[in-house]
Amino acid sequence: MFDPTRLRAESFVAEVEIHAELASTNDWAMQQARRLDLATPRLIVAERQTAGRGRGANRWWSDDGALTFSLLLDIKENLPAERWPQVSLTVGLAVCEALQMLGPGIPIGLKWPNDVQIDGRKICGILVEIPPPPLGRLVIGIGINVNNSFAAAPPEIQGIAVSLSEVAMLPFDLNDVLLCVLRRLAEHLELLAEQRLDLPRRWREQCVLTGRFVEVAMNERRIRGCCQGVDQDGALVVDTCDGVERCLAGVVRRIA
Ligand code: BTN
Repeated sequence: MFDPTRLRAESFVAEVEIHAELASTNDWAMQQARRLDLATPRLIVAERQTAGRGRGANRWWSDDGALTFSLLLDIKENLPAERWPQVSLTVGLAVCEALQMLGPGIPIGLKWPNDVQIDGRKICGILVEIPPPPLGRLVIGIGINVNNSFAAAPPEIQGIAVSLSEVAMLPFDLNDVLLCVLRRLAEHLELLAEQRLDLPRRWREQCVLTGRFVEVAMNERRIRGCCQGVDQDGALVVDTCDGVERCLAGVVRRIA
């Protein structure tokens, strides 16, 4: 199904691992990060992922036909630590734009911090993790609902997720989708490294929250107000009745 030769030849990755089954591509990539003999960027793909992890304590459920992969990158030389927090928003932007190219006309948008959605239903989740120092490596885990159905999904997932093929009503070649995402990602990570990525503007164009009334749960705090988009650091900017708040972490829901 996956074509490692093509994936390597047509993208920026140096090595490709295709696994019939993995518990979690991020877990595997985090383990591999210790091995300095391995070439990077390294693409780790699982045809089936049995214990996918999401942000926080969330799990990532996927079925056959979904795309689940992680990228192991060396960032020490080209991405200073102060720009690491922006990586996860940059990845979200890249996936969103890649999926828009694959499904023109489909209303694909971003929900902070990095969910890609179609009409409020999640099509992609992203989990960026930093292996313990002093490695200077980064793991970017991406799950995209491409050709999978949610018929066998737990009920709580069925109503909140959707796949590209369900909306487009046609199947996609997983190699094509993966390559499209990898190319966009390479471009955006390069722009980020060169400080040429205008995250606020690019996000404003794609974010489904911009101009909407939102509530952000940050630990015990609840911040309510009109979403102004994100700033250059990747913080969500919310105009509240007490002034402008910058949210660097939290769970956001759109209220109106
Ligand atoms: C989220 O939305 O909470 C993030 C979901 C991230 C899922 C992907 S699937 C590939 C990679 N491996 C994992 O275990 N998680 C990420």
